[in-house]
Amino acid sequence: MSAPERIPPRSLTSLDLLAEGELTVRGRVREASNAVLFCTVAHEGEEAECVYKPVAGERPLWDFPDGTLAQREAAAYAVSEATGWGLVPPTVLRDGPYGPGMVQLWIEDDPSVSLLALVDDDEPGDGWKPVGLAQVDEDRTALLVHADDVRLRRLAVLDAVINNADRKGGHLLPAVDGRLYAIDHGVTFHVDDKLRTLLWGWAGRPLPTEALDVLARLEADLAEGAALATRLAELITPAELAALRARVAALRTSGRHPEPSGRWPAIPWPPV
Ligand SMILES: Nc1ncnc2c1ncn2[C@@H]1O[C@H](COP(=O)(O)OP(=O)(O)O)[C@@H](O)[C@H]1O
Ligand SMILES: [Mg+2]
Repeated sequence: MSAPERIPPRSLTSLDLLAEGELTVRGRVREASNAVLFCTVAHEGEEAECVYKPVAGERPLWDFPDGTLAQREAAAYAVSEATGWGLVPPTVLRDGPYGPGMVQLWIEDDPSVSLLALVDDDEPGDGWKPVGLAQVDEDRTALLVHADDVRLRRLAVLDAVINNADRKGGHLLPAVDGRLYAIDHGVTFHVDDKLRTLLWGWAGRPLPTEALDVLARLEADLAEGAALATRLAELITPAELAALRARVAALRTSGRHPEPSGRWPAIPWPPV
């Protein structure tokens, strides 16, 4: 038997390409709230599509310090990689034609996959989890549901860890390769509990063993001096890093998916 062929992890190759490639702006993503530029990166005969979000194009927010969203996106990628779940597309910080920003691999989404739905029933139905009642128009409410999908459940855990304040439906990208990616992690890692998401279907339920194992590993990876902690210290503040450690510890102690705090709107608006 021949030795198995060593294939470099795709994300590594993509990271080099994203970080080193020549960045060319091809267009602007219209519906974005920040400047989001659709680009290509080319390096040594390889080319990929990506998004480039220059820091200069970040819209100021009341609750996050100005000019920090790109770092938060990179930090979310670093934590996602540490979980081994690969939920966030390869993301780098680099310079571009509009100055420093974040560059992320473009994910072609598969429009045939639906992860969210509205149902005219009290029950979510098989394979779906309830999020809550939504006012569809003046005299009609419907039950908003998300798919009962292991990848979404992992993402619910990742979002709790990174304290994602904006997990909308449009930020879930089922890729044509069958994987699920999640994007738009600019409003994460706040010191206050700001978890705002559609993925409440498992709220209060015991965490799967898989998630507990990942959280145990994350706790070690976040210890002072560990590579992940060192990387994150370059991207978020010491207080935010401490809050991240505290969230991981709290999830391990409770052993459950978090529930809405009640102090903060639990569901993003608009939800998609
Ligand atoms: N990595 C990506 N792959 C594919 N599409 C993306 C990616 N990043 C952003 N987009 C597209 O650009 C839109 C705006 O990006 P988003 O990250 O939501 O920006 P904003 O920070 O302005 O909310 C997304 O809704 C999505 O359609
Ligand atoms: Mg967005």
